[in-house]
Amino acid sequence: MTTNSAGPLADTAAYAAAVEEAERAAAAYYTAGESTLDDDAYDRLVRAIAAYEEEHPQEVLDASPTGKVAGGAVSGDVPHTVPMLSLDNVFSAEQFVTWTASVERRIGRPVAAWSVEPKLDGLAVAARYRQGVLEQLITRGDGTAGEDVSHAIGTVLGLPERLGAPATLEIRGEILMTTEQFEAANAVRTEHGAAPFANPRNGAAGTLRAKDRPYRVEMTFFAYGALALPDSGELTDTLAGLPHSEVLEYVAGIGVHTAADTAVAPRTVTTVEEVQAGVEDIAALRASLPFGIDGIVIKADLAADQRDAGSGTRAPRWAIAYKLPAVEKVTRLLGVEWNVGRTGIIAPRAVLEPVEIDGSTVSYATLHNPADITRRDLRLGDHVMVYKAGDIIPRIEAPVAHLRTGEEQPIEFPEACPRCGSEIDASEQRWRCTRGRDCRLVASISYAAGRDQLDIEGLGTTRVVQLVDAGLVQDFADLFTLERDQLLSLDRMGETSTDNLLAAIGAAASRPLSRVFCALGVRGTGRSMSRRIARHFASMDRIAAADVEALQQVDGIGKEKAAAVVRELQELAPLIGKLVAAGVNMTEPGATPPPEPGAAQEGEAEESATSGLPLAGMTVVVTGAMTGALEKLSRNEMNELIERAGGKSSSSVSKRTSLLVAGEKAGSKRTKAEDLGVRIAAPEEFAELVQAHLAVEV
Ligand code: IVH
Repeated sequence: MTTNSAGPLADTAAYAAAVEEAERAAAAYYTAGESTLDDDAYDRLVRAIAAYEEEHPQEVLDASPTGKVAGGAVSGDVPHTVPMLSLDNVFSAEQFVTWTASVERRIGRPVAAWSVEPKLDGLAVAARYRQGVLEQLITRGDGTAGEDVSHAIGTVLGLPERLGAPATLEIRGEILMTTEQFEAANAVRTEHGAAPFANPRNGAAGTLRAKDRPYRVEMTFFAYGALALPDSGELTDTLAGLPHSEVLEYVAGIGVHTAADTAVAPRTVTTVEEVQAGVEDIAALRASLPFGIDGIVIKADLAADQRDAGSGTRAPRWAIAYKLPAVEKVTRLLGVEWNVGRTGIIAPRAVLEPVEIDGSTVSYATLHNPADITRRDLRLGDHVMVYKAGDIIPRIEAPVAHLRTGEEQPIEFPEACPRCGSEIDASEQRWRCTRGRDCRLVASISYAAGRDQLDIEGLGTTRVVQLVDAGLVQDFADLFTLERDQLLSLDRMGETSTDNLLAAIGAAASRPLSRVFCALGVRGTGRSMSRRIARHFASMDRIAAADVEALQQVDGIGKEKAAAVVRELQELAPLIGKLVAAGVNMTEPGATPPPEPGAAQEGEAEESATSGLPLAGMTVVVTGAMTGALEKLSRNEMNELIERAGGKSSSSVSKRTSLLVAGEKAGSKRTKAEDLGVRIAAPEEFAELVQAHLAVEV
């Protein structure tokens, strides 16, 4: 059995090995203080063991960690007055109905009332109050004796140190971290250089166990029961006789938190149909709850029904857990994206094979920081356990190491800022672009100056960084008003480079509108969309004046994108104004503006605009390396050429393709074109066809 394994256990041998592994890990943690498994892996191992035991109850080993705090390594030295039992599970309405029938058979009458409540996903604890004062907090342990975790008193919301009445009793319930507490705990932990918790349950377990942390994180308690202690006095009979629902009301009345103040407050109903409706209600609310639930608990409400149904050694016969689908699933890690935030923080994000968790499809997960990737030893292609519940951003818990094939690849860390190319400050856990907030500025100016936009030779990221640092540019329009002296004052800018750069900027001022528009970096409008917009409207004025409806006339722009473009163009109006003032070209050569409303139909207008051009009505695809007159053209420039010559450019060959320009080393596109009988032209042949349009300065 390999460390970190946690997939389903295939057979008895795998189960036995898993139990042994868990035992070793738990013992190591509690004796030497160091676990052989991390929290996540240990937790998953125990869950795998529990899953196997559920399927094979006759094979459960004594050494099994399930139902024991610290996997039985510490059984706890505080005996429970009444055993802290677990719950049996059902997974469907049919199983639930069968279960209710068995309870009613056992008690010989219908169950008078049912309590339907959330199954809180945390850790069971017993809180002992004497004369209204919280004296001791004990974990469930092995059910008979638990561990004293009284050090946590004062850190748990909903578990007051003093009750509203001088009662002596034991209140039982669940300690968990709400989503908000979980996020806050992880923020504090990462600030202290500790690893973030993989999920709120781990967070609560780790926090309850930890004694000497230099920081405190908050948790929340939800009571789900109460019982008398030996010296409870008259409360003993009261608690023994009250229906469960009234015990909860009493507990809430003396100041202890219950689920009563949540959207999934316990409800009491009488029929199985009503129970089912309650289950459905709670299940539907699960994703919107500010805390995790892993099921619904249904309990016979009356004390008499509970007494007559009785309890087994593991679980009561009067209550059942109706389990909801897991919020943890295994999927594959396909890639890692490095995103740069507003402040320059470089955050890795996992790209996952999409997996359905809790009713939504998860395709991405946070990876916190590079150190976290290293610590978890994640590799591309790994099977990973992903956790997603409610509002919590999906996160990767750990790789499932035993599913490795050897084909997994290391995750590459960026060497320069992935947005602007500047250096990375890796001195802290969270990496940062050394430009901080200016990263965005550097990136947007570098993008505008790039080959497919304004194509300003000599203006690489390093130069842009210099210009931004010197305060000479606030946006890319400022490039056009740079003065010779300003450039000369920069490091490593001699006369020649200054003059070359000024000439390149001057040339950029007369690029066609499609390039200038693309340089604006309007979201959702890349090179080809920018060309379509520019050709359609022919001038920046008309683009800026276009409303949602007018923009939708452009091929490939739907209602939503049109609205987004209109919004962004409004924001960009000052920048566009600056560009105009600096004398930058704002028209598209060869394009004719759309007719006024009421004039010729759109299709006709486009046709008349292109008719007579050599590629009119044709869809052209380019593949392979260009030669001859086309040798120096980038793919973008080839596409521009096709469109100038009246055609449509496309990147894939289909039945609708009219012509494939196939250069050297053309591969699958050429084969496909041959199969489909699409006309194929060599670069030289194509160059002749569009010769008249080749010379246009771009
Ligand atoms: S009643 C004797 N009510 O689920 C009845 N348990 O899987 C035992 N749990 O050990 C518990 N929410 O830690 C009860 N509303 C709820 C619960 C709940 C969560 C936990 C509890 C229990 C475990 C069994």
